[in-house]
Parts: sequence; structure tokens; C-alpha cells
Amino acid sequence: MNDRPVYSAAVIGCGTGGMLSVRALAASERFRLVAACDLRADVRDKLAAEYPGIRTYADHRELLADVSAAAGTDHAIDVVCVSTYAPTHEEIALAALATRPRGLLVEKPLGDTAAAGRRIVDAVTRSGTPLAVPHGLLARPTSLEILRRVRAGDIGEVRLVEIECAGWDIINAGIHWFQYAVNLLVADPFAGVLATCDTSSRTFRDGMRVETEAVTYAWTRGGARVVLHSGDHVAQSRPGKDTLFRVVGTDGLVEFWGWENGYRIVAGSGPADVGPFPDADRSPHQVHLEELARQIDEGSPGHGPGHSPDHSPDYTVADTSLRALELCEAAYLSHRHRCVVTFPLSEFVLPEFVPPGASDWDPGTPYPGEGGGRDGRRLEAR
Ligand SMILES: NC(=O)c1ccc[n+]([C@@H]2O[C@H](COP(=O)([O-])OP(=O)(O)OC[C@H]3O[C@@H](n4cnc5c(N)ncnc54)[C@H](O)[C@@H]3O)[C@@H](O)[C@H]2O)c1
Repeated sequence: MNDRPVYSAAVIGCGTGGMLSVRALAASERFRLVAACDLRADVRDKLAAEYPGIRTYADHRELLADVSAAAGTDHAIDVVCVSTYAPTHEEIALAALATRPRGLLVEKPLGDTAAAGRRIVDAVTRSGTPLAVPHGLLARPTSLEILRRVRAGDIGEVRLVEIECAGWDIINAGIHWFQYAVNLLVADPFAGVLATCDTSSRTFRDGMRVETEAVTYAWTRGGARVVLHSGDHVAQSRPGKDTLFRVVGTDGLVEFWGWENGYRIVAGSGPADVGPFPDADRSPHQVHLEELARQIDEGSPGHGPGHSPDHSPDYTVADTSLRALELCEAAYLSHRHRCVVTFPLSEFVLPEFVPPGASDWDPGTPYPGEGGGRDGRRLEAR
């Protein structure tokens, strides 16, 4: 029997990502879905038909005005989920936070820029509100088992993380893969990124202009490499696998395929195919939301044994999501300015920082013997 508190919840933006929260809230005994909003009337009609009794709104402002009005009453909304496109997350998440919810979910990417994401995380942290950022790879048995095995040293020290991701881009899907890479290399901060994008198809996705195809190459202070080949169409190294994740260590390697249930490991005792595992009984969004509920429980005065009045929420997932967002932004900045982008990213994007200007230097063409430049046979030490 569920004797734990049940939290009322509302979802803002009910497209693909928002419906993952809607379904998770409806499936969980920790939550009661009470309200949802979407700009589109057809989405609202579908929600009203599927979840009779919930209140629907056409705009986040209307919903949040009601949330504010209900604060402190029996109709208070405890948890707000922000599932619109990344460029609107900052405005909506900060407005949601101003209603003083007991917990907040903000979809990845936290913002369209790392600075926007940072402002959300800073404000949430200052308020002490528990925050969920639903990165699926941190809530799925396959990727969690790989993380555990890599951290236990089963393939030695991670030296290379290679990702192929077709049908997607750096900011919308790459953020998941980078966030996982940050977790694999957790004690080894990123030092730099060099990336280039083909933009010929003028592709946009999820409210962002994105690449047709791109290669992002990132390296850590400890010398590990992360390479992401992303884009509308990406040549597959394993036929049939649109997403491939290969983690190469000093003593072996692991390969898995994004959201599939199983992996291949080549380690001490030779190659082994592990899985496929049966589907988990909870979706990744439900796992993240129930962890949010647990953190709200812990911070609630008088809630059961183990309650600590000064308990701080755990912002680890939000922090690693921000580090991943920095990698995404660094990749796009590297392409935009045709240069290496180094960390901390905040220094690179300072107003007074001047990125290298457009250059007429055309590598791969003969050097005419005049016109300046640097003699690459006489490099000075850095
Ligand atoms: N964590 C995950 O696994 C996962 C999966 C899918 C999408 N997402 C994320 O969810 C977010 C949304 O992407 P999507 O794929 O759901 O896009 P989508 O186009 O399917 O849905 C976005 C919805 O938000 C609505 N909307 C936009 N602004 C609004 C506002 N001010 N008020 C109310 N509704 C508003 C739109 O009408 C639309 O229905 C993105 O950040 C995306 O990266 C996360």
C-alpha cells in the first residue's frame, strides 16, 4: 500500500517530451496529474479525452496564474514539468519557479545556451527546490549497468567515447550522449572542443537550427576523447544501428545502441553479448519523477523517519546536464568561429572575449612563400 504523499502535478507543453511526463505522472502512485497546457487545441482535446478531469490551458501563463492562485490551498500544484522547446525553457521554468512549486522538472536541453541553463539551475538551487532533468540513459537498466561496469574498471581506463547518431543533432539528442559521456568521465573535466557542421540542408528541429551533419571532437584534461558523428544521415559502422555508443578503455570496450536493451562487451574473458533485457516496468521519466518525489519527501517537514529539515536536494543530474549543454554550445561555437573552444566556456562567451575573425587562410592549398602566417616547422612552446 502506498502510504507516501501523492503530489499533484502539471505539465507545460505536451508534445513528444511532455507526453513522456504526462504518462509517467499518470502511471505513478506518487503523483496525481491535475493540469496540462499546450498551445495547440488538438493536443488539449486529446489530453482532455485521455485524462478526464484534468484542467487544460492554452498557454503556460494561464496555467501558472492558476498555480499561483492555488498555492497554499487544497488545490495547490506541487510539481510543474516544463516540456516546451529549449529556447523557451528559461522564461517558463523561472516563471514556474516563482509559483514556489515543491518540485520542478525541466526537459533537456536545459536551455538553448549554457548560460540560460545555468540561470535556471542557479535559481532552482538558490530556492532549494528539487529539480529533475529526465536523461533517459541515467534511468535505464542497460546504460546504468554499463556505467556501473565502466566505473568498476571492467574495461580499464576510458580513453575514447565514440557515438554515431543518425536522424538527430548535437543539441537535441547529442545532449543525452554527452551527458552520459560526462558521467563516464566524471572525474575528468573537458578541456576543449573542435567541431564542424555541414549546414547545406538548413535543417531545424525542436525549435533550433541544427546541422545537416556534424563531427564534434572533445577532449578532457586527462586526455580522453569523445567523438560524436551526428546529423540527418550518418554512415553506420554497424548495419541497422542508427545510434551507436562505443566506449573504449585501456583493457576493453563496450558497445551499445542508445535506447536498446543490451550491449556487447569485449574485456578480460573475451567478447560477450549481454541481454537483451526485458523492458523495465517504469519509463525513464517515471524513474526521474519518482526520484523527484523522494527528494520532495526528504525535504518535507515531519515526513517520516530519516527526514532531515536541512536536507539539500541532489542537483547532480542537473549539473551533468549543464556540462553536456556546454559541450553542445562549444561545438556550435567552434563551427561558427572556426576555432578550438576551450573551457571554462563562460570565459569564451564573455562579452569582452573576441573570437578569432573569419580567416582567408585556406588549409590544403599551396603556401606562396609570402603573405604572413606562422612557420609550422618553427613552433614556439605553448
Ligand atoms: N527527455 C527525453 O527523453 C525527451 C524526449 C523528447 C523530447 N524531449 C524534450 O522535450 C522538449 C519538447 O520537445 P518535443 O519533442 O516534445 O517537441 P514537440 O513539438 O513534440 O512538443 C512541444 C509542445 O510544446 C507546446 N508549446 C510550446 N510552447 C508552449 C507554451 N508556451 N505553452 C504551452 N505549450 C507550449 C507546443 O504546442 C508543442 O505541442 C525539448 O526540450 C525536447 O528536447 C525530451
